[in-house]
Amino acid sequence: MKNRFHQPVMLDKSIELLNIKPGGIYVDATAGGGGHLNKLCNEQSDIKIFAMDRDEEAINAAKKRCKHFDNITYINKNFSYLTSALALNRITKIDGILFDLGMSTHQLQSNGRGFSYKKNEKLDMRMNQNSHLTAFKVVNYYKSDMLAKVLKEYSEDRAWKRIWKKILAAREEKEIKTTHDLKKLIESVISTKNKNKTLSRIFQALRIEVNQELDNLKKALEESIEVLDTKGRIVVISYHSLEDRIVKNFFVYQNKECVCPPKAPFCICDKEKKLEIITKKPLRPSEEEIAQNPASRSAKLRAGERY
Ligand SMILES: C[S@@+](CC[C@H](N)C(=O)[O-])C[C@H]1O[C@@H](n2cnc3c(N)ncnc32)[C@H](O)[C@@H]1O
Repeated sequence: MKNRFHQPVMLDKSIELLNIKPGGIYVDATAGGGGHLNKLCNEQSDIKIFAMDRDEEAINAAKKRCKHFDNITYINKNFSYLTSALALNRITKIDGILFDLGMSTHQLQSNGRGFSYKKNEKLDMRMNQNSHLTAFKVVNYYKSDMLAKVLKEYSEDRAWKRIWKKILAAREEKEIKTTHDLKKLIESVISTKNKNKTLSRIFQALRIEVNQELDNLKKALEESIEVLDTKGRIVVISYHSLEDRIVKNFFVYQNKECVCPPKAPFCICDKEKKLEIITKKPLRPSEEEIAQNPASRSAKLRAGERY
């Protein structure tokens, strides 16, 4: 690793949009290497911060980076348990929450985690190393239709079917054990032109399944809305269209006052508007940021304010 600390994505904008106020309570739901968290700590001295991550190594890294700041409580849990994790700390309302989704540079670069096709490691990809489902189990032991669903829906790659068939045939012969075993199978059925894109998408699909990323995100967004105080802010940075679609649809739905069919004579839905959308279109990193930190290139930031 060249830099001791990676560059947090859309750092200034994401923290600015949290609209930090003195004495407020804020949650960094994805503490990772503590990049955003570190800036959050330095915004105001008297705020209270809860830093969550399902990865114990991330929590340890964040603790190290933010050791100068006393008022942080670290929570090594899945952010889908947001409300209960806060309730255990006697918190029922917060003033802002940040999600910087996906995996961290640390997870990608550290040895033995199996997230990257660039290194030959066991097929693992678990963000929480205590959970049971690994990429090895998905690739080798998922029923064929379930594996097809994962590859098709989560990779959105046109070559998914060829790759699926190749995996099914290969696993009949012997287990597919490592990232490079899988990489070779994928490479044998795709053109070299799209190689890296397809490899990234298929690895991403497996990672999403192993970590149940989309379901966790949906649950965490629902919980955030309930725990945000009026005028509290939610800021979400996503890195692929599946995540961004969930965030966008959620924001649009929570912004609505009524969801009755257009022809209904009067409103029967009891829907409440819960969110004001601050970013009408998602914000993107600047050209300069992308040049400095290519990992930011697919980032989309959306922010909303509790109504
Ligand atoms: C992109 S990194 C965050 C980087 C961080 N903002 C920084 O600047 O260092 C995403 C982090 O979110 C964590 N994460 C992903 N899904 C999670 C979930 N469902 N619950 C808790 N943490 C999660 C990952 O373990 C990873 O450490």
